[in-house]
Amino acid sequence: MTFLMILALLGCQFVMVANSDRTEALNIMDSVPVIDGHNDLPWQLLSKFNNQLSKADLNSLNDTHTNIPKLREGRVGGQFWAAFVPCDTQGKDAVKRTLEQIDVIHQMCVKYPETFMCVTSTAGIEEAFKAKKVASLIGVEGGHSIDSSFGVLRTFHNLGVRYMTVTHSCNTPWVDNWLVDTGSDPATSNGLTAFGKNVILEMNRLGMIVDLAHVSVKTMRDTLEVSQAPVIFSHSSAFELCKHARNVPDDVLITVKEKKGLMMINFFNDYVTCNQKANLSDVANHFDYIKRIAGYESVGFGGDYDGVPRVPEGLEDVSKYPDLVAELLRRGWTKVELEAALANNLLRVFKEVEQTSIRMNSVSPKDEPIAYKEIESDCHTSYGYDIQKDTADRQLLGQGLFLLCLLYSLFV
Ligand SMILES: *[C@@H]1O[C@H](CO)[C@@H](O)[C@H](O)[C@H]1NC(C)=O
Ligand SMILES: *[C@@H]1O[C@H](CO)[C@@H](O)[C@H](O)[C@H]1NC(C)=O
Ligand SMILES: [Zn+2]
Repeated sequence: MTFLMILALLGCQFVMVANSDRTEALNIMDSVPVIDGHNDLPWQLLSKFNNQLSKADLNSLNDTHTNIPKLREGRVGGQFWAAFVPCDTQGKDAVKRTLEQIDVIHQMCVKYPETFMCVTSTAGIEEAFKAKKVASLIGVEGGHSIDSSFGVLRTFHNLGVRYMTVTHSCNTPWVDNWLVDTGSDPATSNGLTAFGKNVILEMNRLGMIVDLAHVSVKTMRDTLEVSQAPVIFSHSSAFELCKHARNVPDDVLITVKEKKGLMMINFFNDYVTCNQKANLSDVANHFDYIKRIAGYESVGFGGDYDGVPRVPEGLEDVSKYPDLVAELLRRGWTKVELEAALANNLLRVFKEVEQTSIRMNSVSPKDEPIAYKEIESDCHTSYGYDIQKDTADRQLLGQGLFLLCLLYSLFV
């Protein structure tokens, strides 16, 4: 044999191995498809069509990471669609705009019933798997969306919302976001305030998954301590591999493992390599790393498709999940480990959240409103608050302090 022939044979063998990994990946995903933690297609529908779904064709949409043929090719069997509205809506029309994003997700299920099945439970996800549809779940991305109101939180739950990201990239009156860790936002709550802790407990009681993507490290630790149910990171990666404050440090990964929670790994280049360039193998490194630190039962997929301006080479859109699974097979991941990461881990966490809600069914709903001064603005009225009493209390406190100072100065 000539040298060239040997080279060609070796090449063939390499391609065959690569192909067999991909075939095996597709085999696995045909019975256990991926449930992805975070996709911003609803935001694209707002940006491109002002939410007029009649003007959008999700079969032929071609300037997004997500469309129906790509979801099929990618073996996506479950998706948390983000009901996201930017932080500049905070204290303004955040609630209305979040309701509209929830509505556009419902409308996707109405317009494409052969593809999307809107579900709100683990039983619903399993039913959608059997029907070969995309189990469609709603995640509200950012605590600013509830405008510091338990009533709004519960109403979101009634509308089918099954996770809330505790912050987006802004502090709310009750919780700090990741920008606190970069120094660009002040630590106004130092993690969660007492009201914030009640938000977490109310989510536990309702059976809404707590999502810690976008929060400060102190908020991660506070929440892991207070939450009665396992938590998720719907779209975050490993801090140790890319020291970006949106990522999760090792000590938190270890607590997530202890509390049987889930890290759904973000594909955004800037969080994967801390660089504008990244590839599939860089993302696989985060899978390997988090598996090593937190165990395969704490790994999941949280691509952040259609929410980021750059995605890795080899993971250009939602059709590419099988390529990542093939790469993990090549790296020695077992079928059981991959099935866990694809769907079983999320199903386990969500079931535990459902069980926690059942366990807490004798706990009363939280009903103590946030202090009026925390939300005081031109966009808020004060109905229900005893403003005169609050003001009188503050005056009384002021007078008391004055008297104390006076006494002190007399005696010193
Ligand atoms: C993308 O879709 C638009 C509108 O349907 C169409 O005009 C365009 O040719 C498509 N582009 C590609 C690359 O398929
Ligand atoms: C992916 O990028 C890394 C650098 O971050 C490089 O070393 C590696 O060869 C690339 N892999 C592929 C398959 O392109
Ligand atoms: Zn996000």
